Amino acid sequence: MMREHMMVTIGNRNDPCPCGSGRKYKKCCMGREGRTQAELADFYFRRHGIRLKTAEEIQGIRTAGELVLELLELAENLVVPGAVTGEIDDRIAEETLKRGAISAPLNYRGFPRNTCISVNEVICHGIPGERVLQEGDIVNVDVTPILGGYYADANRTFAVGRVSKEAADLIAVTRESLRRGMQVCGPGVHLGDIGFAIQDYAEREGYSVVRDFVGHGVGIEFHESPQVPHFGRKGTGVKLAPGMVFTIEPMINIGRKDSMILDDGWTAVTVDGSLSAQFEQTILVTEDGFESLTPYDPEYFSA
Ligand code: MF3
Ligand code: CO
Ligand code: CO
Repeated sequence: MMREHMMVTIGNRNDPCPCGSGRKYKKCCMGREGRTQAELADFYFRRHGIRLKTAEEIQGIRTAGELVLELLELAENLVVPGAVTGEIDDRIAEETLKRGAISAPLNYRGFPRNTCISVNEVICHGIPGERVLQEGDIVNVDVTPILGGYYADANRTFAVGRVSKEAADLIAVTRESLRRGMQVCGPGVHLGDIGFAIQDYAEREGYSVVRDFVGHGVGIEFHESPQVPHFGRKGTGVKLAPGMVFTIEPMINIGRKDSMILDDGWTAVTVDGSLSAQFEQTILVTEDGFESLTPYDPEYFSA
């Protein structure tokens, strides 16, 4: 989603609360340990607008996540040289409906299709259409079915046939960036710790991290609080709590981090035309770590 505001820094007693509220720590979270989950949920909603999910809601999102996995596998099979992006979108939409779900992107703030398909220098929000995939392209397919009222949101970047080493390396680093962001998740961890883990790794590998789009709370609605930046400083931002469900969806560029939106009002591209890749999963914070609710990558779905 489009980033909307900046984060807050931390400190001690008289400094801004580590939860990111902007209030003094002593007037906010200090001494609030030992609350029930219902009290915690009430606090997170009032203070941050974050909905901690109930067990029933989590099960609903997990079931939507199972469909996400199938849709991304279908996408993987459809992404071949000569394929038309609009036809890939049609096939995924058809499968989504067959499974009793609907595609969240369709008509979302006027978005015209069921999926986002982002090729090469497109960072995200590519609109499926007439474009024909060529061997050597890299293609991100992002799906968000609504099943039983619950949303799960994930994407993967695929190589079309054989791709350059540059492109393959970008895909590998982006996938690893997501893995690193996920691995730090657990109760008490700060949102900024996720962004730090991603940025620190990706930049050390010589890539840039897109700032203009961020991960987001998800599940009951498409885009909920909080925003989840893929860059940041350790110990900043809201603390994660059990029942939080959000996406991590780093967009990593070979060249500059800057983006611009094309005249269609959606397609975000790199300003320098360099390749961009993305991977996204929907994550649940558990009592002792995290669980992916869209576990398409068996090497990392919980900790
Ligand atoms: N699925 C995208 C995300 O990860 C959002 C797409 S919004 C749309 O947040 F309108 F472009 F579909
Ligand atoms: Co998302
Ligand atoms: Co998405």
